[in-house]
Amino acid sequence: MRSRERLIIPYRSKVVEPISLPSREERLKRIEVAGLNVFRLRSADVYIDLLTDSGTGAISASQLSRSMLGDESYAGSRSFEEMRQQIQETMGFPYTIPVHQGRAAEQVLNYVLIRRHSFVPGNTHFDTTKAHIELAEGRAIDCTIDAGRSSEGNYPFKGNVAVSKLEQVIEKYGARHIAYILMTITCNSGGGQPVSMQNIRDVRALASAHGLPLIFDAARFAENAYFIKLREPGYQDKPIIEIIHEMMSYADACTMSAKKDAIVPMGGFIACRDRELYERLKTPAIIFEGYFTYGGMSGGDMEMLAQGLREVVDETYLAYRIGQVRRFGELLQSFGVPIVEPIGGHAVFIDARRFFPNVPEDEFPAQLLCTELYKEGGVRAVEVGAVLIGRDPDTGENIRPALDLCRLTIPRRVYTFEHLEYVADVIRTVREEKGTQMKRGICFDQEAEGIRHFSSTFRYL
Ligand code: F0G
Repeated sequence: MRSRERLIIPYRSKVVEPISLPSREERLKRIEVAGLNVFRLRSADVYIDLLTDSGTGAISASQLSRSMLGDESYAGSRSFEEMRQQIQETMGFPYTIPVHQGRAAEQVLNYVLIRRHSFVPGNTHFDTTKAHIELAEGRAIDCTIDAGRSSEGNYPFKGNVAVSKLEQVIEKYGARHIAYILMTITCNSGGGQPVSMQNIRDVRALASAHGLPLIFDAARFAENAYFIKLREPGYQDKPIIEIIHEMMSYADACTMSAKKDAIVPMGGFIACRDRELYERLKTPAIIFEGYFTYGGMSGGDMEMLAQGLREVVDETYLAYRIGQVRRFGELLQSFGVPIVEPIGGHAVFIDARRFFPNVPEDEFPAQLLCTELYKEGGVRAVEVGAVLIGRDPDTGENIRPALDLCRLTIPRRVYTFEHLEYVADVIRTVREEKGTQMKRGICFDQEAEGIRHFSSTFRYL
């Protein structure tokens, strides 16, 4: 059922970027050359690009003008101080280390916090997060609630951590072998699902009882806060900034990919409360990223990031952002497309095993769906499933994830609803023409080592 509430769009376009739809013949050729992997397409060959919401948002006139004020000094730049103050104001952390993007924050933080064979339990870790934990010789343990492992059921906070699972992990390995607890808000890999304030509070209590740090992967913190306002009793009348302050008050530190909820093309940071941790982060930040008052970001970028943090907490913006994604999902549901419910914050996820019920699960139905959407309408989506999750680092076996998803990620402030209606129509056509007819999927032609989804190639079975 589509909601009838009026959505207010709190911006209009001032500058536009041309896009075009290549012919069907051209598209078939391009995807073949790309080895059935949409990452290997040129963006010029894509009409609507829903690969990611990362660094793809439209910057505002205020962000652009502020970037002109960037202080490019190597050390102690005014723009760093501007960004640090804004992070403190929005998130409450006094110490900030800038980095060039989220995964750099993960690298620096894990270098400091992880000892060999230590564990990082949490809700489903994003792929770079898991990889950085493993690179530092630790192990990520997924403790997401069971409801978060199914695409069905309208549980409002499917990103939640199962506190009982967390307790079991702490008991099994002992608190001294746990490096920290990680909560990803919202939980990207689980379908863009939010985490409730109650769950954050419960995890905090458990962490404190065992003397463990609680760290947020805060890439989509403002979207998470908006879901708390929408769905959690007691928060409806609270200003979003207060919800954010409360959320953040339970964490010791956060890593941030500013390419998401700070709406910048590039940037990120680690923010923390503890001076000692801040001091320990400085040296690896310098080695991996740059001096700790710029860490891979230009002064202009830091100004834009600060301004983006001011804009993202605007409730009219968040209402439209979350509302646009929801409406798009509802349109797909009205066409009978099986999507993850409830609809998440930054993307709509199609359950590809249900979309192609006759394609065997180990023949990568979600990857197959991505190629079909490109062929049908020049739409680029991304697989979040068996290809992305990779192989078990201990056994080398392909991991079979709970869900095999095709993610339609909505960039911030970029596409109109008409763009999304076009995408929905493309999906409807593929569903009608191929949904049940498709009997075989695809397999690797050349499987890339390590993080394999970017560059592997595939062939039809
Ligand atoms: N954490 C989460 C939850 C993410 O979604 C991402 C990136 C990162 C960390 C890493 O940040 O890209 O700035 O280095 N997600 C992107 C995506 C790539 O498409 O979902 P990064």
